[in-house]
Amino acid sequence: MPKIDDATCVRCGSCTEVCPLRIYVRTGEGIAVSAERGPLCRQCGHCMAVCPTQAVSVEGLSYEGFPALPERLPPADEFARLSLARRSIRHYRPDPVPRDVLERILEVAAQAPAGVPPTTVEVTVICDRERLAELGPAAIKQLRRLQRALRVPLLGWLLRRQLGPAFVSAMGSFIMPMVDTAERLWREQSVDMITWGAPVVMVFHSAPAGFCGQENCIIAANHAMLAAHSLGLGTCWNGFIGGLLAYDRAMRVRMGIPASNKVHAALLLGYPAGPTYRRAVPRAFRAVQWV
Ligand SMILES: Cc1cc2nc3c(=O)[nH]c(=O)nc-3n(C[C@H](O)[C@H](O)[C@H](O)COP(=O)(O)O)c2cc1C
Ligand code: SF4
Ligand code: SF4
Repeated sequence: MPKIDDATCVRCGSCTEVCPLRIYVRTGEGIAVSAERGPLCRQCGHCMAVCPTQAVSVEGLSYEGFPALPERLPPADEFARLSLARRSIRHYRPDPVPRDVLERILEVAAQAPAGVPPTTVEVTVICDRERLAELGPAAIKQLRRLQRALRVPLLGWLLRRQLGPAFVSAMGSFIMPMVDTAERLWREQSVDMITWGAPVVMVFHSAPAGFCGQENCIIAANHAMLAAHSLGLGTCWNGFIGGLLAYDRAMRVRMGIPASNKVHAALLLGYPAGPTYRRAVPRAFRAVQWV
């Protein structure tokens, strides 16, 4: 239950306005915690973030853990610049990414919105080269197995229903042709078209019962991607590895991911090598409806 210290509360009312569950109420004497709604507190921390006198307290949270706000926000155009300059990177220097840089990325990504706090996101950071090298071949093997299974009459029908028409169509139009190319490039030039030789893979996952696990993981991974680019790293969202780890329990265990967790996103990270982008790429939503 949240609490209010009457001695220090200046009755500004900020906590009553900010709480998404309207747990604080004005009374004749001041501000009180609603007995009915108090137990609904989700520890989102907003009331403690607005209270001018630190009069409000929430179980499990302490003011020492609340970071100071930045003194200034980035100028309006900075985010647009970052967004325009980010590209999916498919050439990486082999240099490892220092641990403190990876920790900084996680710290920034942890600020992403989460369905109902506390977040359900868990992250596994894979830097071990031996294990990284196993991801590409395992992803290809998994897709070849799926390709064969889709051709088996009853099993194929069931899988098509489960995977949905968009994925089944993508299997034929670009996923399997990409797998063919990946196998050839690996054989002929030792190029790994799945991990692109990235020295780090970050996997975002959540416990099956975790509320909004998929949404939370995807938003956090996107924050991590932009944070990494702002620190001079390159990244690439990776559907092959995401799919491999989502469906292959043994690989989850091998990669140190809790076996029962659901994997929702995988990101490649590393210092970029290869071609320099000389211009941004035109991008627009397929449609925007103004109502
Ligand atoms: C859900 C998703 C899955 C992706 N999977 C892969 C992948 O497996 N391999 C890869 O090289 N790129 C992958 N990408 C990167 C996209 O191909 C890339 O974002 C797109 O071509 C646009 O390029 P840009 O990121 O430079 O704007 C993926 C992107 C998303 C959003
Ligand atoms: S932590 Fe969030 S949900 Fe709990 S009382 Fe404060 S504002 Fe309301
Ligand atoms: S925000 Fe703090 S000072 Fe303001 S009413 Fe709530 S408890 Fe009192």
